[in-house]
Amino acid sequence: MKIIVAKDYEAMSRAAADQVEALVRAEPEALVSFPGGDTPVGLLREFCRRVKEGAIDPSGLKFVQLDDWVGIGPNDEGSCSNFIRENLLRVMDRPFGDVFTFNGAGEDIDAQLAGQEAFIEKYGPICVEVLGIGMNGHLGFNEEGIDFSLRSHRTPLSSVTRGVQKKYFGGRDLPLKEGITQGIAQIMESKTVLAIANGKKKADIVAKAILGPVTNQVPASVLQGHGRCLYLLDEEAASLLPADLPGLERV
Ligand code: PGA
Repeated sequence: MKIIVAKDYEAMSRAAADQVEALVRAEPEALVSFPGGDTPVGLLREFCRRVKEGAIDPSGLKFVQLDDWVGIGPNDEGSCSNFIRENLLRVMDRPFGDVFTFNGAGEDIDAQLAGQEAFIEKYGPICVEVLGIGMNGHLGFNEEGIDFSLRSHRTPLSSVTRGVQKKYFGGRDLPLKEGITQGIAQIMESKTVLAIANGKKKADIVAKAILGPVTNQVPASVLQGHGRCLYLLDEEAASLLPADLPGLERV
């Protein structure tokens, strides 16, 4: 496992975009997956800028959404599909070759999960799997206690996630109880995982994920077993890691 520590959020986002750019230049037909949330905003801005400037050609790339909340759809602020549309798909001036996104408000959730799985089967394995890390160490909506063998699935949200969620909905408490998500099996089959985290509030869970035992109580700890996992952190998120940790590099 490699860990790149950048001085602040902007530098972390640029470093993450450098990695994505290098990977998709090497594999122009690649399947890529980006998460929703606060963490990837800077990376997506950088990605779209590089598309606009011609450094990244998205036309052969395929995009698959990571996860979403059950009960809200692409037109609802705070849904991951809305986030991906507003921060990525609408901002890119040239489209991806193919795209899979969820509609968490749809009646056909099981069919959508089958659709996500089929999309990954068709174009996969995922070449660049970008992941945020939840306050409980979740990856996508793979919450504490998750079965690591699951693929695309529907799952109850943990109390931590239900507590954090209103930040995405303008402070409103929505009665959201379930998520839909790629499973850990698909994440672990990805060729490269880029795990991004910033801010002091993530320092504790990042340290547990990287230094602690591999356990489904901290789902991100599973990445310790991924052969090509790169963490991109800012100084604050890395603040509980020893400076001489093998694989850690400051940029
Ligand atoms: P955040 O969410 O980027 O908004 O911190 C990360 C996550 O829950 O996966």
